Amino acid sequence: MNITKNDLRGKKVLVRVDFNVPLNDGIVQDTARIKNVNSTIRYLQESGAKIILMSHLGKTALPNPNQSLRLLKKQVEEEFRSKIVFIDDCVAENAANIIDSASVDDIIMLENLRFHSEEEDCNEEFAKKLASLADFYINEAFSVSHRKHASIFAVPKFLPHALGFAFKKEVQVVDNFFQNAASPKMCIIGGSKLSTKIKLLKNLVKKVDKLALGGGIAGAFLAFLGNGALKIFDPKEYRDDVVEIIENAKEHHCALIMPTDFSALISDRDTIEHSIISSEESNASIFDIGPESVELFKRHINESKVVLWNGPVGLFEKAPFDFGTRILAEHIAQRTRENHLTSVIGGGDTGFAMKKFKVCHDMTYISTAGGAFLSYLEGSELAGITAMQDAYTLE
Ligand code: 3PG
Repeated sequence: MNITKNDLRGKKVLVRVDFNVPLNDGIVQDTARIKNVNSTIRYLQESGAKIILMSHLGKTALPNPNQSLRLLKKQVEEEFRSKIVFIDDCVAENAANIIDSASVDDIIMLENLRFHSEEEDCNEEFAKKLASLADFYINEAFSVSHRKHASIFAVPKFLPHALGFAFKKEVQVVDNFFQNAASPKMCIIGGSKLSTKIKLLKNLVKKVDKLALGGGIAGAFLAFLGNGALKIFDPKEYRDDVVEIIENAKEHHCALIMPTDFSALISDRDTIEHSIISSEESNASIFDIGPESVELFKRHINESKVVLWNGPVGLFEKAPFDFGTRILAEHIAQRTRENHLTSVIGGGDTGFAMKKFKVCHDMTYISTAGGAFLSYLEGSELAGITAMQDAYTLE
């Protein structure tokens, strides 16, 4: 079922966006999530629809001026070249009147949805109030669509709905990686906690040719692979999961690529001192993969046609432990620039790292999503996709 610009002319369209952007002293630090919804907003502006934006900001459950979406007004106005009519409470009694009296050239923006606990409780009455403000709903917030919240899961029950262009692109990129991309396919998975990546690793070993591990996750695997020295990373409760991942990797011919050395903290009294240790050495203070491992990962990247990366391989925020993530980022960027590689970067911390190392423009695709990207990658059901089964397609 397609819906055209003509069908939306004169209609009020409620768009769930994810403007959960980093703020410092009330100043927006990164506008990627605002820019990301540009194609859908432009489409609606061209169609002559009245646009109503709704989002959350932060993890608040109570009204808090430091997490007001009003702080984003200027950036949103600049990005979409429209005046913003701001409504101080997303379910205010006079919201419908304000919307009706706004010009079609204005964009209406509702205050932070999470100022009402009903949002996170997925309360249907709250969803109905939001839905009553519009004629049509668009989910353009892939990055929060792993949350079963009212604006994601319940509102589409009460309005005809569609997915936004950026949402579709996020899903397509991951689908393409698994289904269509050329082999060899390589994944680099980092991050500090094994517990958050178990399901992902179980899914990946069945689907990719190479799986390189960094961060604390690599430490945990090495501990299981017989390196008793790394006891610090040996959470017993995951023993069976790790064994299963290793066995499945063998069965599905997925090469598990482990770091052979690490960068460990020796002292941080005045300046940080570190030393490179082999992966057999005992040390609880490893914060990055070492240079030998970086070369090993680079060789595998050179053999791959597509690389998907989720999770920094070290503490990239702090030199010298940014080394592994930085060199790999620069190498992947270069291979991509030279057309040897398709590169897909998971959002969240990995996206921040790419920004820090100034390689965003070279990568084929950088997701704006953290948790949602991970959930989709691991094959979990996303509330925002489940709720859109009868969706129209924007034409
Ligand atoms: C994100 O930043 O990952 C999304 O906006 C979801 O935010 P949340 O983790 O607070 O639900």
